[in-house]
Amino acid sequence: MALGSDHAGYEFKEELKGYLAGKGIPHQDLGCHSLDSVDYPDYALLVAEGVARGEYPTGILLCGTGLGMSIAANKVPGVRAAVCHDPVSARMARQHNDANVLALGMRITGPELALEIVRSWLGASFLGGRHARRVGRIREIEERYARLQVSNGNRFTGGEERTENGGTKNGGTQNG
Ligand code: RB5
Repeated sequence: MALGSDHAGYEFKEELKGYLAGKGIPHQDLGCHSLDSVDYPDYALLVAEGVARGEYPTGILLCGTGLGMSIAANKVPGVRAAVCHDPVSARMARQHNDANVLALGMRITGPELALEIVRSWLGASFLGGRHARRVGRIREIEERYARLQVSNGNRFTGGEERTENGGTKNGGTQNG
């Protein structure tokens, strides 16, 4: 799996590497590599792209709240990043949402609980069935937006198809 953090998640990332090594779980640290202040989207992108390309089956992202990391990672098609503050959510994120990236907020969650959350996430797997249909719907949303961006010359339209008079069918905005 791929690991990424900003400065707020750096210390736990070091601890997590020890845990994963002890369990024989292969992992790659994609940074950051010190407590110096960095921008979380850079590391979210490294992990998310690695997972989306299939270089890593899953990823774990660590920042102050888990929020910035998950927001950034979820911009990459194919990535389903879930911020979890408890082991039950972590298990459900795998079982129901097939989350392939776990995001943790290390200014919210202490290291012991964070490790519990990681254990729970690692121990669960996707249940498929009706959940597969719903995850498939998420993929359709991704595909729809990708198509719209291409057909609009990469101008973001808020996901709305444009009408003939230049408006949007449901009020999306255009910045092109
Ligand atoms: C860094 O100060 C902080 O904003 C970051 O770690 C994270 O919490 C963002 O969502």
